[in-house]
Amino acid sequence: MSKRRIIVTSALPYANGDIHLGHLVEYVQTDFWVRFQKLRGHECVYICADDTHGTPIMIRARKEGITPEQLIARSHEVHLKDFTDFQVSFDNYYTTNSPENKELSERIYAAAEKQGFITKKTTPQLYCEHCKMFLPDRFVKGSCPKCGATGQYGDSCDHCGSTYGAEELGNPVCTTCGGTPVVKDSEHLYFELEPQHDYLEKWIPGHTTSDVSNKLLEWFKEPLRGWCISRDAPYFGFEIPGYTDKFFYVWVDAPIGYIASLADWLAKAKGKKGKGESAEVDVSMWNDEGVELYHFIGKDIIRFHCLFWPGMLHAAGFKGPDKVFVHGFLTVNGEKMSKSKGTFVNARTYLDNLPPEALRYYYAAKLGGTTDDMDLNLTDFVQRVNSDLVGKITNIASRGGQMLQKKLEGKLGTLDAEGRALVEKCRAAGETIAKFYEDRRFNQVVVEICKLADAANEYFDKREPWKTVKTDAETTRTTLTAALNAFRIIAIYLKPILPVYADKAMAFFCEKEWTWESVNAALENATLGAYEYLASRIDQKQVDAMIAAATVKPADSGEVSHESRASKNKGAGDRGAKPLKPEIAFLDFEKLDLRVGVVESCEIVPKSAKLLKFVLDAGSLGKRTIFSGIRQAYPDPAALVGKEVVFVANLAPRKMSVGVSEGMILFAGEPGSCGGVLLPTAVAGGGSVVS
Ligand code: 2FM
Ligand code: ZN
Repeated sequence: MSKRRIIVTSALPYANGDIHLGHLVEYVQTDFWVRFQKLRGHECVYICADDTHGTPIMIRARKEGITPEQLIARSHEVHLKDFTDFQVSFDNYYTTNSPENKELSERIYAAAEKQGFITKKTTPQLYCEHCKMFLPDRFVKGSCPKCGATGQYGDSCDHCGSTYGAEELGNPVCTTCGGTPVVKDSEHLYFELEPQHDYLEKWIPGHTTSDVSNKLLEWFKEPLRGWCISRDAPYFGFEIPGYTDKFFYVWVDAPIGYIASLADWLAKAKGKKGKGESAEVDVSMWNDEGVELYHFIGKDIIRFHCLFWPGMLHAAGFKGPDKVFVHGFLTVNGEKMSKSKGTFVNARTYLDNLPPEALRYYYAAKLGGTTDDMDLNLTDFVQRVNSDLVGKITNIASRGGQMLQKKLEGKLGTLDAEGRALVEKCRAAGETIAKFYEDRRFNQVVVEICKLADAANEYFDKREPWKTVKTDAETTRTTLTAALNAFRIIAIYLKPILPVYADKAMAFFCEKEWTWESVNAALENATLGAYEYLASRIDQKQVDAMIAAATVKPADSGEVSHESRASKNKGAGDRGAKPLKPEIAFLDFEKLDLRVGVVESCEIVPKSAKLLKFVLDAGSLGKRTIFSGIRQAYPDPAALVGKEVVFVANLAPRKMSVGVSEGMILFAGEPGSCGGVLLPTAVAGGGSVVS
């Protein structure tokens, strides 16, 4: 087998959020694959970094009263610790806010410009006079220009699925300050893709799976639209050379961060860093035809990795990835992760309650290398870890190892014919398992390993060493020699999935290093080390404690706009947690005329997933018809009839596609289930009024 040289990346996590179980679907599977390649003896470099630029990071830092640099330094440390504790082992974990990345971004941009791929267009954009900034799509909400649904972001409508420009929204509101933005012209730079139409159309099918490429290729029926790559100040990012107050959009320098991280790794490996010497940005390995390059990504960022990214690389004469491996989202107990249900679990919260091996094992058992979503069913999780990893696999070592230590001086004997057959069976599975690893069908790896564990347990039970040990030490030794040799091979196969576990097993066998080839050795007449517990059973109580710790009170859940790459069926963009709006003066609050009304009728609005139509008896004000987007929180509208509600009586009537809304009812509810459209942003901010 000739030695391969491979670069592998996982998508770079944003620096403004914690790592959660959804993210880990990606990092853990990339880690399995990288560790497998290394175990097979290949050179494989696992590259990652924090994705540090963009509006959400700038705003988050502002909110915390720190600089973006301070924020990203803190995140870097926290993220890396989370990954390390989950046994995800990067060869380099860098930052996109680096000199290498700046230089490379400028270089790639300049090359694209030289090719004539950069154009300028003046477009109308929403600008918030109060925040003094152009509003990214995810920082503005309003009603959909197509269907009228309220509370929609500036890029697409959750209700009817249409896409549009933020300036087309009805009644737009800045989600940071609650103010009404104005439309202002701004000149922007576009990376034109149409000149590479034919190139990309040919490139895509060979570099990802057919489901992914078929979807992408639909866009090729028409000329490809240019991609806006600039953002106006204030923005945390790299300034575009030749412009003032214009920055590269975060998605320009984020993937370039892969190359920058590799360059940083190379410089460190060559000892060129940390000696005051400024190393040149080394792109030789990236561009080496003999080096394979693979990106692991979630399906929400396909467009960036399979269209814009190969386009940018090709334009600049850089090598593109050999394959982009796309995985699906994580659901927990069959549903989207939810903060209020405690299923939006951060890496640290998990680790505070449960061992990392359990999750790694379970994810492996479920990941099939496809874009299908993956469910973490918490009952199945406990059951599977206990029955398979502990009860089936580890059981061989714990039963055999402890008996050998206690009764037979820890010394192995030789294999008899039956024992050799068992060991041979384990060895023979090697290439099948290797192929499954290579194809990222980790679930099949686990199936094969469990089959081997079944065979070893059957052998053990048939030979009844717990009985023979009383009368025949040498036969028992022979039995345990076979069972433990079988376990040894299984542990080698498991090493990419459970590296710490495998290392402990290796120490028990008193060995220094395992490679994939190590399965070919048989341990006979050797004295083993002390048996250390490899994996213990997990308890539903630990899961319950984790869920309790992860449960966020509805008012704080921020679920309206939480962003989770591997857990969300949404396009990626400039995204971030919903920030608290600036304090308002009492004078502002006083402008609201809040009245109490009695719900006279409340009904579902046909064809709307969110809206309920209320008619209120508003006393001296007469009757008021109000549309509220809270249907998900109140599935039984009839139950609201007769209830008293507080409503904003002096809000200007609003024309919606379903009718005119004469006010706004104030509900405090679970933001996630209500779609965040309950409160007018002018008064929203943490359950001001009761329902
Ligand atoms: O979607 C995300 O979380 C992005 N931060 C991923 C960036 S991957 C790469 F292109 F840098
Ligand atoms: Zn604003």
